[in-house]
Amino acid sequence: MASSSSRLLLPLLVVVLLGHGREARQPPPLHGVRPMAFDEGYTQIFGSNNLALRGQGKRVHLSLDQSTGAGFASQDLFLHGFFSAAVKLPADYAAGVVVAFYLTNGDRYEKTHDELDFEFLGNVRGRDWRVQTNVYGNGSTSAGREERYDLPFDPTDDFHHYSILWTQRRIIFYVDETPIREVARTEAMGAAFPSKPMSLYATIWDGSAWATLGGRYRVDYKYAPFVAQFGDLVMQGCPVNNPMDHSSSAAAGACGTPWYEAAASLSAAQRKEMAAFRRGHMSYSYCHDRLRYPVALSECDARVLPRLFGPDGMRYGGDHRHRRGGRGRRSDVAM
Ligand SMILES: *[C@@H]1O[C@H](CO)[C@@H](O)[C@H](O)[C@H]1NC(C)=O
Repeated sequence: MASSSSRLLLPLLVVVLLGHGREARQPPPLHGVRPMAFDEGYTQIFGSNNLALRGQGKRVHLSLDQSTGAGFASQDLFLHGFFSAAVKLPADYAAGVVVAFYLTNGDRYEKTHDELDFEFLGNVRGRDWRVQTNVYGNGSTSAGREERYDLPFDPTDDFHHYSILWTQRRIIFYVDETPIREVARTEAMGAAFPSKPMSLYATIWDGSAWATLGGRYRVDYKYAPFVAQFGDLVMQGCPVNNPMDHSSSAAAGACGTPWYEAAASLSAAQRKEMAAFRRGHMSYSYCHDRLRYPVALSECDARVLPRLFGPDGMRYGGDHRHRRGGRGRRSDVAM
């Protein structure tokens, strides 16, 4: 009797707690990959008390208040791998707040850095969070490869997985189990395809200065602290001891053929899922941005979804919140 009623009550209790508390349920871990605790592979890089461990060190709260943001990084550098976190973004008003989950080697290669980003760029006046992916290779910051998406869920309601798969030939971004972007290495891309060892980072920071070229979207500390929660930290890659040796033979020698190499070959069903996501949810693509790139970058295929996007790379109709303000300025691209 007691046990059957508690079985009935438990889901209700969870719902009630979700409604009120900061602790949300996490989704089941991605198939076949083992999450690790913070101490197993990460280290705090800034933010003193604004980084807090929860759940036996398996979850990390990063908060932004008037004094500072916070961030952590992987202890190792990796040449290729699968990197994932379940993230729950700060709810309510979070304009100007930037949460990022990314790989970079910017601290080692100042002029020739590589970078793979998931960036959550605040929620303008309390509306939906804006989510962007980007790819930089060999310091090509003048050639950003931004894409933005409207998520099919509210990323502040619950944890969702955001993952980056990086192999020698292919990069795939995932939201939960859905591949949302694929970057295949092409000859023409050259060094714009990230090819040097990178560290993994997760940060929260005040993007006001970045976001407010134009006086928009400052962080309003009336709503602080802004807390981004990270869990299910997965980092399965080829750690590199000597970061100067980034030859593929060094990587192959160190790691053989890891499982994520095979994961980089999407099945027909996954391709269909990815195409559906992009058709339904992509709100900006550098590949369609003729103001920024009068001639599209080499990897862009002009035949893909052309009629959905304007010459500024923004999606037509239905999505006016992303069109507010000037067109094609760096500030719009950045946000
Ligand atoms: C990367 O950039 C540097 C500096 O611009 C350049 O010298 C180098 O050749 C580039 N590497 C490749 C592989 O293109």
